[in-house]
Amino acid sequence: MGKVGKLQKFAEVTSFENCYERAPELKGKWKSDIFKNDNPITVELACGKGEYTIGLAERFPNRNFIGIDVKGNRIWKGAKYALENKITNVAFHRLMIGNIEEYFAMGEIDEFWITFPDPQHAKKRKRLTNGMFLNRYRAISKPGAIMNLKSDSTRFYEFTKEIIAEQNLEVLQDSDDIYAWDDIPEYLANIQTFYEKMWLADGKKIKYLRYIL
Ligand SMILES: C[S@@+](CC[C@H](N)C(=O)[O-])C[C@H]1O[C@@H](n2cnc3c(N)ncnc32)[C@H](O)[C@@H]1O
Repeated sequence: MGKVGKLQKFAEVTSFENCYERAPELKGKWKSDIFKNDNPITVELACGKGEYTIGLAERFPNRNFIGIDVKGNRIWKGAKYALENKITNVAFHRLMIGNIEEYFAMGEIDEFWITFPDPQHAKKRKRLTNGMFLNRYRAISKPGAIMNLKSDSTRFYEFTKEIIAEQNLEVLQDSDDIYAWDDIPEYLANIQTFYEKMWLADGKKIKYLRYIL
């Protein structure tokens, strides 16, 4: 197949059966109506092309995964792969994360991933792990829900650690250089996103935090 352009991806993704666009009518119904099972749901925030959503779904068939991003042309790649490979525990939802509680019900989500978010050097209010965003995620989480952050940015990693300390959150795993870590979990080493590959090629160290929301 030839290269698919950005506009064609935007158009195509709206017709994919595993993609939803700002769908508040699905609030509270992801397990019953979309996945048709009672398995826990992991959300990948700002999923880009969806490498983590897909990679985790392939490794954990007894969980459901939803990739969220505002850019439909990026979601297109993961969604198409899932359709072609019949990965049924995956869906994608195009929306702005700042309104996430309009699209999921209280207690609906068990775990979150954020991979290589925009570092937002000047704008703390836009950082996806700031206190305001954490409250939005809590509004749709089960008690004890887990957050995973994988980032190249020292500033974003340190900022997130400050929020964790301020809020006295329990840290389950913390590494400032995951590839130097002896017991690195397989899914952390072997699923690499578009941005992670770029930063690794640039010689950046990859940081990881896993903590209770
Ligand atoms: C640097 S890219 C990382 C993408 C992917 N996680 C990766 O590692 O390749 C950041 C992504 O966040 C998305 N994004 C940023 N802010 C967002 C928001 N408020 N709501 C939804 N998506 C957002 C962008 O569209 C973009 O795809």
